[in-house]
Amino acid sequence: MQSPRVERVTEAVANAGSARPKIEILQVSKQFPAEDPARGLAVSNVSLTVGQNEFVSLLGRSGCGKTTLLNMIAGLVAPTQGQIAIDGKPVRGPGPDRGMVFQSSALFPWLTAIDNIEFGLVNRGVPKVERRRHAQDLISLVQLSGFESKYPRELSGGMQQRVAIARALALDPEILLMDEPFGALDELTRAEMQDELLAIWQKRTKTVVFVTHSISEAIFLSDRVIVMSPHPGRIREQIVIDVPRPRQRASVQFAQFYETIQRAIE
Ligand SMILES: Nc1ncnc2c1ncn2[C@@H]1O[C@H](COP(=O)(O)OP(=O)(O)OP(=O)(O)O)[C@@H](O)[C@H]1O
Ligand SMILES: [Mg+2]
Repeated sequence: MQSPRVERVTEAVANAGSARPKIEILQVSKQFPAEDPARGLAVSNVSLTVGQNEFVSLLGRSGCGKTTLLNMIAGLVAPTQGQIAIDGKPVRGPGPDRGMVFQSSALFPWLTAIDNIEFGLVNRGVPKVERRRHAQDLISLVQLSGFESKYPRELSGGMQQRVAIARALALDPEILLMDEPFGALDELTRAEMQDELLAIWQKRTKTVVFVTHSISEAIFLSDRVIVMSPHPGRIREQIVIDVPRPRQRASVQFAQFYETIQRAIE
């Protein structure tokens, strides 16, 4: 059996191979104000392209700049150097082409679960009946039927996160940016959500950038795993997971990828 393909990308561009680039990140850095500038350098000279419909995971230790990089793609944080483009157009702020799931669910506390999901649709002027039907479908998708009228404070952390995922999907964005979306879920629900996400990704052909701390989650889901290193946040290696889906978590091949990625993180 072939061993996993590991590519060192310390200086080179981590790229999507032949796929048409959807997201292009070119020599991007983010310096936060800090007493010690070296500590404030959250992301340093990162270049990465993500292909149309590609599923890419960012993996790495706490503080290596994963959230910062995702926020820059989302247009919520501006790079201090370099450029980010979507479909060749520079990112200047958030947009409906990018749906975001935050590390903590960030729901509107004054809205019920279903109203949170509908929020973006209200802004877009979708009629009430259609809005409700669409939100109800998403409620079923994330397995929250019966909890439509609960407020976030009445839901568990995992349920809140599922509402946040449904909210991100509501506008059917071409790009999904997900920051540890399943971190607060129990293992069974997490595995179910991973299956659901793959189904959504395959059915609606989205481009996904997915941040996780879980090596096995990254292997299960991704076309490519980008391993980052901290202080300053850089891309260290990329591992191409060229295995057909659905992937078998208990396979020898899976274990090989696991070991390779673990070594890359260390
Ligand atoms: N708004 C900010 N102001 C100053 N420093 C920040 C800010 N946001 C992030 N940082 C710093 O940037 C670095 C990267 O943070 P970031 O949140 O991107 O890491 P992360 O990889 O997402 O970590 P985790 O896995 O814990 O979520 C950290 O050293 C952090 O302290
Ligand atoms: Mg983070």
